Amino acid sequence: MRSLKTPAPNMRFVEAMIAVLICAAALAPTIAPAGEVLSQNRRSDLNHLLRHDCGSCHGMTLKGGLGPALLPEHLTAWDVDSLAAMILRGNPQKAMPGWSELLSDAEAKYLAQRLLEGDAQ
Ligand code: HEC
Repeated sequence: MRSLKTPAPNMRFVEAMIAVLICAAALAPTIAPAGEVLSQNRRSDLNHLLRHDCGSCHGMTLKGGLGPALLPEHLTAWDVDSLAAMILRGNPQKAMPGWSELLSDAEAKYLAQRLLEGDAQ
């Protein structure tokens, strides 16, 4: 009589896949708009940058200073992409520096999103 082999390797594979999926789900950080992953640490760095670095010109509460106010009611003409582009490019004719050396596309979009949502102050 032929002995039946147990399908043990297959079960191991399935278990391994399930373990991988569970880990991936548990570790999955929030995905930034451009698809780049921003860690929680990087997000809090960016929140700090927004208040302190951007705030040094746009006012600590972003109500304006050397640079114009960056509150949602002042940004109605902008969307995330145009704001992110402005942040990266700056305006060389005025005092707005470009941030492309320091920020990725995803990070600029994250800042733009926060400005448009008005939770950056
Ligand atoms: C050195 C001062 C300075 C710093 C630092 C600075 N800005 Fe500016 N920003 C300006 C000035 C001045 C303007 C106005 C430029 C113009 O009139 O085109 C401006 C314009 C802008 C605009 C366009 C607003 C509008 O209504 O036209 C956005 C958006 C902006 N800045 C975002 C930021 C963000 C985000 C940061 C931080 C990452 C930042 N800025 C840091 C000086 C600064």
